[in-house]
Amino acid sequence: MKKKIISICKGDGVGPEVVDEGIKILNVISRYIDFEFEFKEAPAGGAVWKKHGESLPEKSLEIIKNSDALLFGAVGIPGLPQGVAEYAILRIRHGLDLYVNLRPVKLYDALRDRCPLKDEYIGNGIDITFIRENTEGLYANIGGILKDEVAQNLMIYTRHGCERIIKYAFEYAKRNNHTKITSVDKANILIPSQMWRKIFHEISQEYPDIQKEDVYVDAFCQWLIRKPYAYQTVVTGNMFGDIISDEAAFLIGSLGMASSGNINPGKVSMYEPIHGSAPDIAGKNIANPIGTILSVKLMMQESFNQPKIANEIENAIEETLIEGRTVDIKNPDLNTLSTKEMGNLISEKLKIRLKK
Ligand code: NAD
Ligand code: IPM
Ligand code: MN
Repeated sequence: MKKKIISICKGDGVGPEVVDEGIKILNVISRYIDFEFEFKEAPAGGAVWKKHGESLPEKSLEIIKNSDALLFGAVGIPGLPQGVAEYAILRIRHGLDLYVNLRPVKLYDALRDRCPLKDEYIGNGIDITFIRENTEGLYANIGGILKDEVAQNLMIYTRHGCERIIKYAFEYAKRNNHTKITSVDKANILIPSQMWRKIFHEISQEYPDIQKEDVYVDAFCQWLIRKPYAYQTVVTGNMFGDIISDEAAFLIGSLGMASSGNINPGKVSMYEPIHGSAPDIAGKNIANPIGTILSVKLMMQESFNQPKIANEIENAIEETLIEGRTVDIKNPDLNTLSTKEMGNLISEKLKIRLKK
């Protein structure tokens, strides 16, 4: 029996609703496969800030550090001072040095009806892995405000920071038999991007079999909806990766469909949907839990080396999407499911697959 401690941070808004469905999936895995999960709550976010004056208490960080992986929901409550809740995420990313933000975006056949693009732009499908640098750039947390007159954040990149994320991206492309890698930057104006691009080309020499290309971020936002089928691995900086991945998420049907892993290979990593606390739909049992369930899939794949379980989770999701949908991806010919119903149906499908 493989025992794994999973720290759980539900957070605010829809966070607890979607994480509960992720836990359901972990429970199915432990019932049918040789895995035993122990869950440890690590409270964080806006509600925690209101109570304790900090959004990630030291105790929670300790629980996370002593676990095998973290499943995270979302944080943020309208009306709180900007950033106090969200800061919890940055503290985890920096505190655990989670320099990779892996954000796969794949359009399932069953969801072609929800893709906002015409067929000619979908082409032979959308299956892109965004690899976002996750500790540097504008997120390095260096900056401040001077007498309410001048505000700044420093966009800082180090050679070490660029090298490790770009190497990870090439290795990811190689591991997944990708033939092409795209680097997205703003080297025509930003100095950190110029260094990034230089390092991208240096490292690319070690991978002669992978075709490489550079694209400026503004044009990329256009190419992404004009020929999404043309991209495989896309590596980019922190801020650009944040923005592009939300745009990409809607191409596969909804922001609620997109998953992520905040990873330091071989170390404690954090898995979370890419969406936020969605205050507009919180507490209604209508949020789409698939982004979170796909984050559990990434956990199995990247932290626990269980590609077969990961595949079965994805298969169970695809099968479910033919039968029912949450409101954000609804189809008039299919049942509309609540958050919990969607989690239950995927669990049922997964049980059958894992029993075989
Ligand atoms: P959001 O991602 O919460 O929501 C944007 C839109 O997408 C909303 O209409 C929402 O209803 C919809 N949506 C999001 N998740 C969904 C789901 N699972 N199912 C169906 N629809 C879904 O972004 P926002 O409204 O800009 O931000 C709300 C709060 O979340 C803010 O405080 C923000 O800072 C925070 N935030 C947190 C995270 C995180 O915790 N990782 C990420 C992004 C934003
Ligand atoms: C994300 C979020 C976070 C980010 C915020 C909430 C700190 O938008 O995970 O995409 O900007 O990285
Ligand atoms: Mn974001």
